[in-house]
Amino acid sequence: MVHKYLYLLCAFIIHECLGYLNLFLTSQEVQKTLGLDVELYYIRDGQINNNALAYVMDIPLNVDNLLISWESLNGKALPYNIGITTSNLHSITPKLNITQSGIIPTTLQTFTLSVPCTGTVADQVNIDISMNITLQPNNITTIKIQRKKNCKRNETPISSNISIDSKPVTNSVNIFYTAVGSAIILIGFLAICVLRYYLKEKKKKSSRGNSMQPHMTYLTSATRNPTSTCSYGSFRRMPSYSLIDERSKDLQERISELTIQRCRVGLNSVILEGTFGRVYLGSYTDENGRQEEVLVKTVTDHASQIQISLLLQEGMFMYSLNHKNILTILGVSIEDQTAPFLLYPYHSYKNLKVFLQKCKLNSEGVAHTLTTQEVVDMALQVIQGMQYLHKKHLWHKDLAARNCVVDDKLRIKVTDNALSRDLFPSDYHCLGDNENRPIKWMAIESLLQKEFSSSSDVWSFGVLLWELTTLAQQPYVEIDPFEVAAYLKDGYRLAQPVNCPDELFAVMAYCWAMSPSERPTFTQLQVCLQEFYAQLIRYV
Ligand SMILES: *[C@@H]1O[C@H](CO)[C@@H](O)[C@H](O)[C@H]1NC(C)=O
Ligand SMILES: *[C@@H]1O[C@H](CO)[C@@H](O)[C@H](O)[C@H]1NC(C)=O
Ligand SMILES: *[C@@H]1O[C@H](CO)[C@@H](O)[C@H](O)[C@H]1NC(C)=O
Repeated sequence: MVHKYLYLLCAFIIHECLGYLNLFLTSQEVQKTLGLDVELYYIRDGQINNNALAYVMDIPLNVDNLLISWESLNGKALPYNIGITTSNLHSITPKLNITQSGIIPTTLQTFTLSVPCTGTVADQVNIDISMNITLQPNNITTIKIQRKKNCKRNETPISSNISIDSKPVTNSVNIFYTAVGSAIILIGFLAICVLRYYLKEKKKKSSRGNSMQPHMTYLTSATRNPTSTCSYGSFRRMPSYSLIDERSKDLQERISELTIQRCRVGLNSVILEGTFGRVYLGSYTDENGRQEEVLVKTVTDHASQIQISLLLQEGMFMYSLNHKNILTILGVSIEDQTAPFLLYPYHSYKNLKVFLQKCKLNSEGVAHTLTTQEVVDMALQVIQGMQYLHKKHLWHKDLAARNCVVDDKLRIKVTDNALSRDLFPSDYHCLGDNENRPIKWMAIESLLQKEFSSSSDVWSFGVLLWELTTLAQQPYVEIDPFEVAAYLKDGYRLAQPVNCPDELFAVMAYCWAMSPSERPTFTQLQVCLQEFYAQLIRYV
């Protein structure tokens, strides 16, 4: 067992020896771009980290200099060639402070690549840093580090509404009008939904006792009220990287309760992989020798202490929950402190975002395409999971397709967000501070005031519904993360996806109401979508 596990672990590490060379980003540098306090090695002791190289890192608009550290370790003179290419020389003219070719220093040194935006052309610019390193005569190894930056045109700092010259603004005006148009058309539908809901509520109240769903009435009052009282206090804990956490003692207790022996866990294949994090398909053997397939979330040995504790903290979010639409954690192993294992049940689950994207890739062939009926059914399952969470007074705060799993029968479970920042880096952004947030899924009050509530989860649910109908497109792809809050404040929202029925888009738009109190509750959403589902079945 142990032998097999070691062998498998080794097999995953592709050895590509490169002399003794380090090429890496210091933790300050990673902090600047990713908001993580960790060093990121592209080459460590001559071993190439292909995961790190494959990752196209976003350069925040306010960062103009990239610092890369390197060192030839064995005192050997390693010749290099370096070249920078960008996809748009009008937006960025890159500059290096080292020569294009030379010898890699034998002491630890840092060089700078300056990539300030010229301000004349707005564009998303790809910047590739390619290096040829000569190991032996006639043997050159090429590595490529990739970056991208969203450059903007310098504008006179007056009202942003007037500068229609840049593409995002025009698009968003369209988005806005589409949204307004659809909203007007569909207000009737919503009014009917809401009316029916209240009628049902009334009926239920008058016939208490034999009510089929007693939690419905309970939920509305129980989830609404804590909104105003708990949201301030409850924020700082989860997304912040602070190790000093009032729940940490609690966390220790939870961990010890769930602790399993590591030797009972076997890792079979990597399902998802990021720069530091990995999700494996594995197996767990219990005391009676029964084997069970499990999902294992863990980190590679490049992960920092902070990332490890974040993995544990976030992975424990679903601790002790029990609902068919929630993926509950089964066990934890922290025997190896550098790489804890978090175990979840596996029933052919796939990550929902990855699943949706695969649907899209194969849409011209035989693969499965989702019907509206299936989309609505999946949404209803998410709603049930969220109702359960809210009943336990837990706000998810990161509801998105990436934080759900789906099986072959399109059964959905909502999961915690442990490792998601690393596995789906383009879904998270830092806005100047060090917190990496799912900006484009967050409600306006969460973005502006860091307020979270059941209504902010409803907002994120709207974005998730949008992901279901677009097969996991990136939301607001043309809008810089720094500007999302301003766009939302101006009334812009995601556009109606092609082929998305008006009724479904109306539900989304309803979730994105500016004021949290105007958004529907999950119970209202359930009524609306069940109604719509019934209509779909009727016409099929
Ligand atoms: C690296 O080598 C390849 C192949 O010889 C060459 O095409 C490329 O221009 C070189 N890159 C740099 C940065 O010198
Ligand atoms: C390049 O810039 C870095 C960071 O400012 C500095 O440490 C380094 O000495 C510079 N290298 C050269 C060759 O000027
Ligand atoms: C170049 O060097 C690498 C690493 O040392 C080695 O694996 C590869 O076979 C060499 N290629 C050639 C053409 O000599």
